[in-house]
Amino acid sequence: MEDLELIASFWRGKRVLVTGHSGFKGSWLTLWLNALGAKVTGISLPPVTTPNLFTVVNISALCDSRFCDIRDRVPFIDQIHAITPQIVFHLAAQPLVRPGYEEPLWTFETNVMGTLHLLEALRDVEAVRVAVMITTDKVYRENARPHREDDVLGGKDPYSASKAACEHVIACYRDSFLAVNGVAVASARAGNVIGGGDWSRDRLIPDAVRAWQEGQTLEVRRPQSVRPWQHVLEPLWGYLTLARKLWQRPTLAGAYNFGPEETDTATAGDVIELARMAYGRGEVRYGDGKSGPHESAWLALDKSKAQALLGVSPEMALVQAVERTMAWYRAHGQGVKARDLCLADIADYQRLVQGASVVAPLASSA
Ligand SMILES: NC(=O)c1ccc[n+]([C@@H]2O[C@H](COP(=O)([O-])OP(=O)(O)OC[C@H]3O[C@@H](n4cnc5c(N)ncnc54)[C@H](O)[C@@H]3O)[C@@H](O)[C@H]2O)c1
Repeated sequence: MEDLELIASFWRGKRVLVTGHSGFKGSWLTLWLNALGAKVTGISLPPVTTPNLFTVVNISALCDSRFCDIRDRVPFIDQIHAITPQIVFHLAAQPLVRPGYEEPLWTFETNVMGTLHLLEALRDVEAVRVAVMITTDKVYRENARPHREDDVLGGKDPYSASKAACEHVIACYRDSFLAVNGVAVASARAGNVIGGGDWSRDRLIPDAVRAWQEGQTLEVRRPQSVRPWQHVLEPLWGYLTLARKLWQRPTLAGAYNFGPEETDTATAGDVIELARMAYGRGEVRYGDGKSGPHESAWLALDKSKAQALLGVSPEMALVQAVERTMAWYRAHGQGVKARDLCLADIADYQRLVQGASVVAPLASSA
């Protein structure tokens, strides 16, 4: 177990670039980095949902916040040269499966070309030492056991295929250009995350909160789909640890899965039943799983590499992750400030990592 003060002293004053800082994971990550003392610059597009975590937490007050399209090569690369980051977290993406079917070109341009532009820019940034590139658990060719990092890459739908393509681009730039410049590059593959403040469309918990707040019935299209669900702070802690360890030991560069205990890999239906219990009310209608385009039915991650090389293990069981998430939405609905809720969750999570047991989220007392 590492001392939190030592971890904070690592981050204090570091120049960190977060792409996708206006998104769900990016907002949480920017808040956490700011709390650890890093000097964060964010690049993304303006948020698209109302409400959104970026605005309710006022992330733009915590970082140098810039809006720029990562598909626009020249302005994006110019921004990175001006920022001269030491550590980069690349989260900006078109991150959803169904919009990927609706707009494959946009998905590939954003995910693949955006990643390529970033890596190209990093070739000329002397200060940069570490890049953590966020892909997904969906980069693997489907099979019937938890995916290991050396499994064959695949991805049938445009989102998954675009992220698998990113993996090739990342490995190519790492081996051909960036490692020789002393930049440690890793990709991070995590599964579906839940947590307070996600209002994206077409995601299980945000859809549930929206429906139940309005007294409507939630439709769950594929209740039998199995996914490695985690609270958002779990993979984010993985990314933060990965970046810190890469700085100390660049030879750790490579791909890493971040996932829950195997027993916590659950169906969408299981997650919704836990959410309904935690929320205290809510109607659900389950589909037969047959409508809509192809989505993998079963997805699990082998997390042993991150455990062995980085010392990162899941801290929250699924039931706690769901309870914490629903308590966040309930408390926010009752007027508790989003930033306070997020900072309390982060403080609790840091206590968990330090080996303390945490009884109940701040939100549950609201
Ligand atoms: N949320 C999940 O369950 C999950 C699971 C696995 C992987 N991921 C990955 O994590 C990352 C973040 O996901 P999220 O859930 O926070 O998504 P999100 O939709 O909340 O955020 C996406 C971010 O990318 C930015 N972005 C999109 N297109 C852009 C463009 N052309 N130029 C600049 N910025 C652009 C958006 O502005 C936003 O800041 C993504 O790479 C996603 O693929 C997410």
